[in-house]
Amino acid sequence: LELRHPASGTIRSTSADTPDYPYYKAAISDKRLPLAFVDMDLLDINAQSLSRRAGSLPMRIATKSVRCAAIMRYILDRYPSFRGLMAFSAAEADFLVRQGFDDILIGYPTMELSEIQQCLPHIQQGSRIIFMVDDVRQAEILHKIAKQNQCIISICIDVDLSTKLPFLNFGVLRSSIRSWQDMSVLLESLKTLDHLHLMSVMGYEGQLAGIADALPGLGLYNLIIRILKSISQKECFARRQEIVGKLQADGFQLEFVNGGGTGSIEETKQDPSVTELTVGSGLFSPALFDHYRSFCHKPALAFVLPVVRQARKDVYACSGGGYIASGPIHSDKEPKPYLPVGLKLIKSLGAGEVQTSVRSPYTLNLGDPLFFRHAKAGELCERFTELYLLRAGSLEDQVPTYRGQGACFF
Ligand SMILES: Cc1ncc(COP(=O)(O)O)c(C=O)c1O
Repeated sequence: LELRHPASGTIRSTSADTPDYPYYKAAISDKRLPLAFVDMDLLDINAQSLSRRAGSLPMRIATKSVRCAAIMRYILDRYPSFRGLMAFSAAEADFLVRQGFDDILIGYPTMELSEIQQCLPHIQQGSRIIFMVDDVRQAEILHKIAKQNQCIISICIDVDLSTKLPFLNFGVLRSSIRSWQDMSVLLESLKTLDHLHLMSVMGYEGQLAGIADALPGLGLYNLIIRILKSISQKECFARRQEIVGKLQADGFQLEFVNGGGTGSIEETKQDPSVTELTVGSGLFSPALFDHYRSFCHKPALAFVLPVVRQARKDVYACSGGGYIASGPIHSDKEPKPYLPVGLKLIKSLGAGEVQTSVRSPYTLNLGDPLFFRHAKAGELCERFTELYLLRAGSLEDQVPTYRGQGACFF
């Protein structure tokens, strides 16, 4: 049965430059559903526009926002602006080295002895794995293992870049290192840990990178967010510059200073102390990244659910779909119905555990595929073992996600 929009009689696309429903429907026609796929043409466009946005700064891929080794390999091999990875766990760093990756900054601290130990043979064989620290207790564990194994472990210090305003903390409550004074205390306690090498500093301005500032119909909210972002940018960039400057003046030769994320490339590159960016979400461009003032990437990752019943004239249920994103619980963490245009989740039901109902302006058939986007980029890969790769209207390959490789780190 043809899908018809009641008003126009045709199926609308989301925009003139992204494929429409018939295009994707034809491409996945004989496949078992649910499935998830990457539109490689759109992924390429995103990688190119991220490279343009970053200018001369290299970008580390935030692995949590991809969680598929084949896609990360594809990007690193084709786009020279992308260099190295920011992983989210030490066990993952081990997994990535085994997959042939190098230059891995573990973006978050770990207290897991066994996982640190897993990384040691790679470090001893020359792989670059850098551990994140913001507290001497994390450093002591790393030092103990490094000493036992007679090697040096490289560390990066995470500087908190949130801005404390009179009425709110604007940013993530991330690290205990908020000032040069905090940094001096940490450096003092690191002095005796001679099997650690301070290689770099990271300051992630999550309040600039992760908060949309062009949400439709929310003019006043957007204005307030932009004002807060601009106040915060001045304050937190000055803090990062001060800390990096004083470290260098004290003789620390930092190999890199990492900052930013997909949502803050334009701002972060204005900070001369930053030598590299971390970027992940912009590659797949999930729903939470649809409404930023300075960029607009393409929806390169989607999942497809089959219609399995019709509960009312305009209400259909699909198998699966309850893929809710992490973070504060609001409806923006729900999957977003994508194609055909005009489908809506039912507010009182949301995206369900094993079935998801939608209201449709079209007459649908049982078995029809419906397309959705996840709110975040990498988390969808925890729900699918494989991603289909679609190019020029046909599926060209199938690659495993982390989950498909049996890798589940948290
Ligand atoms: C330390 C760090 N850097 C960068 C990013 C940005 O990643 P993305 O480009 O996926 O937003 C994140 C995301 O949370 C992060 O935690």
